[in-house]
Amino acid sequence: MKTDLSFAHLAETDTELLVVLAADTQTSKEKAAKPEPVLLSSDEIVKAAAAAVLASGEFKAGANETLLLHAPAGLKAKRLLLVGLGKLAKATPHAVRLASGTAVRFCKPRGIRALAFALPQAETLPPVACARAAAEGAVVGDVDTDTYRSDRKDLSVHSFTAVAPGNADQAALKAAFAEGVIVADSQNFARSLVNEPGNKLTPTIMGQRAAAMAKEVGLACEVHSTKKLHELKMGAFWSVSQGSEEPPALIVLRYEPKGVKDGPILGLVGKGITFDTGGISIKPSENMEKMKYDMAGGAAMLGAMRAIALLKPKVRVIAIVCAAENMPDGKAYKPGDVVTAMSGKTIEIINTDAEGRLVLADGLCYAKQLGATHLINAATLTGAVAVALGQVNAGAFSNDDPTFEKFNAALATSGEKFWRLPLGEEYAELIKSDIGDIKNTGGRYGGSITAAEFLKVFAEDTPWIHLDIAALAWIDDARPYIAKGPSGIAVRSILEWVRSYQ
Ligand code: BES
Ligand code: MN
Ligand code: ZN
Repeated sequence: MKTDLSFAHLAETDTELLVVLAADTQTSKEKAAKPEPVLLSSDEIVKAAAAAVLASGEFKAGANETLLLHAPAGLKAKRLLLVGLGKLAKATPHAVRLASGTAVRFCKPRGIRALAFALPQAETLPPVACARAAAEGAVVGDVDTDTYRSDRKDLSVHSFTAVAPGNADQAALKAAFAEGVIVADSQNFARSLVNEPGNKLTPTIMGQRAAAMAKEVGLACEVHSTKKLHELKMGAFWSVSQGSEEPPALIVLRYEPKGVKDGPILGLVGKGITFDTGGISIKPSENMEKMKYDMAGGAAMLGAMRAIALLKPKVRVIAIVCAAENMPDGKAYKPGDVVTAMSGKTIEIINTDAEGRLVLADGLCYAKQLGATHLINAATLTGAVAVALGQVNAGAFSNDDPTFEKFNAALATSGEKFWRLPLGEEYAELIKSDIGDIKNTGGRYGGSITAAEFLKVFAEDTPWIHLDIAALAWIDDARPYIAKGPSGIAVRSILEWVRSYQ
């Protein structure tokens, strides 16, 4: 999809479809109160073209609601599409992100290949943030996930043009728009990896995809396997991979901006289980096919690194993805086994399906050995996080309030939802082992928290954030603004968190 930003007049914009946003200004809470939709444009010709339908009450400007007009009077555009943002008082750049995704996804099945998107004019909507968000929504919205269908119709939109309001700061808007394209392409890179089935994306292939991306954007990259895991004494990571014919991959990416010789080194660690059968503690077959997305945390780190390499914040970053396949076979690790992690801690295996925390234990330890001063990890770690938070908020944990606050602040830009869950000594008690230092499960209750406590043992005193994205990495039902399938969650938030250290 070609993307650009135009400063032309809306009415003069010659396009297949012109998108104009609208919002509901009704503030009364009374049930009987009718929505009062207004256009977020000061263009008199556009306002006149939409006046009748706005007055009709047919269009309420609800979030992602759409209404199409053909041959709008006085406009060069062939069609006018109104997209709702919901209540104006609550509208944010994130609502614009979703609306631009909705607009692109409106075009796709209808064979409309080019659209122009009027950036909103409203006091409460900062233009620069909206320019970035509009680019992101469009580029994310353009992707479909039926990549292996032989009758796949390429319904991609060819051209997306955002149209700036008249009084805009052109340079700032251009920069923000270009940034949005980079961020969304990086999110799509992560999504494309997550979408791959286990047979097409083994740990080795994930390593190759990471290396190719690194080469393209100028990141240093190393991909190691079995030998290096043994050298580093990564007994926890290795134990997960040992039941598979597919060798593990330890993917290391480094971003070292010129002239930055001190300050923090941020360590990004991702769970890259390319398929999770559960191992000897095998999962039920229902929905097991979904476990191809168990590498979404690793993919998020690769996507974030791509964006970091292109946007060049002044802070050093290391990313580590621990990729393996969790399989049952004659060599597989077993419940009751005791393994020694890289840190020297001994782990009693209770359940071989709690494998993510094992690969991350050694990934976190290695990130520290490579010099990371702050850690963030992302993982599809527990089913329990879906029980706790539903498919609305992803889980977040941290051992350090100031570090978490920086992450929380990043969410305002990313538009992603993470909810902090507690840690504490009483939870840590639940993963003490009789035979060794810790065990890899803590019982049925508080499953996401005991998993986080497990990771915390390996983060030790280093400021650390753990993101449990199990419930949000895969979208079960298509939304107006994004296809069903991989969401690419966490790429944007991790990127903003990293940028907050520059
Ligand atoms: N990959 C799963 C978690 C998961 C579940 C991700 C559903 C996405 C959707 C993880 O490895 C796992 O199996 N966790 C177990 C832990 C348990 C054995 C303590 C779980 O959540 O059931
Ligand atoms: Mn598992
Ligand atoms: Zn898993």
